[in-house]
Parts: sequence; C-alpha cells; structure tokens
Amino acid sequence: MEKLVIEGGKRLTGRVSASGSKNAALPILAACLLAEGTSVIRNVPSLSDVEILLSILRELGCRVDRRPDGAIEIEVRDESNSRASYELVSRMRASVCVLGPLVGRRKTARVPIPGGCVIGVRPIDLHEKGLQQLGARMSLDRGDLVAEVPPSGLTGAEIFLGGPFGSSVTGTANVMMAAVYANGTTVIESAACEPEVVDLADLLVRMGARIEGIGSPRLTIHGVKTLRGAEHTIIPDRIEAGTFLAAAAITRGDVTVDGARGDHLRAAIHVLRETGMRVELGKNSVRAAHPDHPLRPVDLTTLPYPGFPTDLQAQFMAALCVADGISVVTEKIYPDRFMHVSELLRMGAELRKSGATVVVHGVPHIVGAPVRASDLRASAALVIAGCAAWGETEIRDIHHIDRGYERIEEKLNGLGAGIRRVNDASKPDPRPGAS
Ligand code: EPZ
Repeated sequence: MEKLVIEGGKRLTGRVSASGSKNAALPILAACLLAEGTSVIRNVPSLSDVEILLSILRELGCRVDRRPDGAIEIEVRDESNSRASYELVSRMRASVCVLGPLVGRRKTARVPIPGGCVIGVRPIDLHEKGLQQLGARMSLDRGDLVAEVPPSGLTGAEIFLGGPFGSSVTGTANVMMAAVYANGTTVIESAACEPEVVDLADLLVRMGARIEGIGSPRLTIHGVKTLRGAEHTIIPDRIEAGTFLAAAAITRGDVTVDGARGDHLRAAIHVLRETGMRVELGKNSVRAAHPDHPLRPVDLTTLPYPGFPTDLQAQFMAALCVADGISVVTEKIYPDRFMHVSELLRMGAELRKSGATVVVHGVPHIVGAPVRASDLRASAALVIAGCAAWGETEIRDIHHIDRGYERIEEKLNGLGAGIRRVNDASKPDPRPGAS
C-alpha cells in the first residue's frame, strides 16, 4: 500500500489543468455498447475507476484500445455475453451504468447490484423502476439484477425518476440509454441535469439518438432503430477543478484551473465569492485568489445540479475550517457523507455534527496529523487540508484518491505543495504479486 506524506504550510499558486470528467467518462464509455461500429472517446482520464469499466466492456465483447494520443477506441465485436462480473462491478459501483445499454440494445442484462459505500447505501431502485416502466422484466437473482425484455422490445413511457433525495444521475443515464432503442417516445420527468448527463446525451445524439430537453429536468427520447459509433471529447472534470479552487481557498493561495468551465461551477463559484475569494472566469479557465483577509464563513447546502455539488462538500468544509467565524454545512444528497469530519477533527478543526448538518467553528489554522482516506472526495479534502496545515500530514489508504484524481500529488506539487507518495510499510499491498 502507499501513503501520501504532505509538508504543510504552503500557499498554492499558479496554473493547473483539469482532466476529463470521471463522472462523464463512465456512462459515456458504457454508451458505446449501444453503437454499431467503432466509437472514439477523447480526454478520458487515466483513473482506476475508468480501467475497471474498460475491463467490463471487454468482458461484454468489446475491443477496447487506448491510442498513443490517449483517445480510447471501443468497438462492439461480440454481443453474446450480457453478464457483468461481480468481481469487477463490486470494485466500482458506477459500473451499474452498463445496465441501460445492455437492456436497450441486447434486450437482456445481468448486472450485480453494486454494494453501498462509506457515503451511503447507494440504492438503484430508480434505475430498476425506470427500466421496468419501459417494459423490462426486472428480478433479483443471488445479488444480480436480471433484466429481460420481451421480443417486441421496449416501449416508450412517461417515467417520473425523482427519488427521496431528488434526481438520480446514473439512474437518468441508464434509463435514457435504454430508451434510445424503445418503440415510441419516452419522457423522463425529474431527470438529472448534471453536466455529465448532458455530455452523455450529446454523445447519444451524435450516435443518432433523438433526444429533446437536454440539460433540463424533462427529457424526451424518440426511439430509433440503430446507433452508429461516434467521436466525442469528454468535458473537463468540474469536481476536480472545484477541488483545486478549494485548495486555493484553504492555503490562502491563487490558483488558475485551465480547462475548467465556469458554467459548470456556478454554485461553487458563488460560495467561494461569499467567502471573499476573488474568482475570475477566463475563456477556458477559472481563477480563485485569496483576499487580504481571512475567509468569511458561509452556509452551504448540497443539492442536485445546479445546486451546490455533494462531491465538493468535503473539500469546501475543509476550507471553511480556517474561515473567520461559524459556517453551517448541510448534506441533502448523502446524509452520511461525513467521513472527513473525524479526520479533520484530528487536524484541529472544530466541527459539530448533528444529523446531516455540521457546524464549522473556524480556527486560525489546522495542524498536520496522520489521517486515513475513506471515500474519494473526503480523501481529497484531507489532501488539501494537509497542504494548508502546520507541520506534516500522512494520508493512508490513498487508493481511494487514485479512483478519481489523475496524479493529484503531481498537480498540487506543480502549485507549490510538498507531497510525497511513499510505500506504507505498515500496510503490505494486498494485490497479488505486488512488490
Ligand atoms: C453520481 O452518483 C456520481 N457518480 C456521484 O459522484 C455523485 O455524488 C452523485 O451522482 C450525486 O451527484 C457518478 O456519476 C459515477 P445519484 P449516482 O443516483 O448516480 C439516491 C464521486 O465522488 N438514489 O444521483 O450513484 C442516492 O442514494 C461520486 O465522484 C436513490 O434513492 O448518484 C442519493 O441519495 C460519489 N435511488 C441520491 O439519490 C436510486 O435508484 C443521488 O444519487 C438512485 C439514487
């Protein structure tokens, strides 16, 4: 196993590039299962989550090649196996996004129900309900969700996809990807509006799908007979970009994220400006510079897009730990998404959790300590906290971070951080054959 050792007390300044969006790449790569011929997807980030999905596509009969220029070619060669293996799906829950394409095109699917994770139970009842309303017969068999479509195919339907926590991002993706091949028209009410869903819809249209209302909570999909492989460039990762902007805030720095799209970060930019950060939107970049006074406290609540993203909650809470005053952070998407709180407390933050709300009493500075990564975004919060903290921070279990951040220590060190990735002798690497 590896760990990150971070020498703190650094102001992060300069320019860093955003990678392609993990949460756009995963459903977009799955969507290639829908198309005849070859698709070419560009700006796919090199992440462990992406590699797992590509392995699943191979076991589902696809040729998958990464070109020298980094683009990924996907060609469906053999459609006889529509079963995704538990070994792979259990390692990356978003693999569930192969369900929609398999149901839509192959009329059959067997996909393990992904386990929960530290941020919550992660049910997929909305995925199941949506596919059922399109005419798929859904059943549970030894942990696998099994879908069977009648010979006549799927039938377009009016589907309400809202759940107790609002819309579902991958639920919308799955139902939309199945509906492109349904007979007739499907309307998805309370569809997710995240930029990653828009990016997926843009690819489907490029493949020949007929979709209206893209980016709105009401999607209308007119079924077609076939889709052709297409070329597509993944949007920049707004969550990675927001993480770097939060790093500027917590370290009193001045960071420009090249490739970031300000229109995908409006809620986060609004909160940064409320803290007093100076935020400038470039043509193809976003810059955040710390003011000449401590951050002002703010209240933030996570909501479905265009609200404040739950995936930036931990990182912004870390920044608010050193604001001058009391902030209130409320998590409306995953009420248990607070694995970072106990670790930030170890670094001297003053936090009081009550249900899905944390009251943050700002302190003048936090102090480095050995901490443990947990979910992807909580881990990123600890990394930026370590950059700002006085003294050294050690972060163990950093495989969580590598799932969603491409070379995070390289990018942050380019901004002046002092991060080393070293072997964690205290925890031998469990991977077979690891040195
Ligand atoms: C996507 O997960 C993202 N992952 C998550 O990012 C992100 O946190 C989440 O959307 C919310 O924005 C990917 O896109 C790969 P949801 P997803 O279905 O689609 C409940 C990261 O850090 N729900 O939009 O799984 C659910 O429990 C990851 O990059 C149901 O009740 O999330 C949650 O409370 C973490 N029934 C809320 O809806 C369902 O069938 C939103 O979940 C599905 C979801």
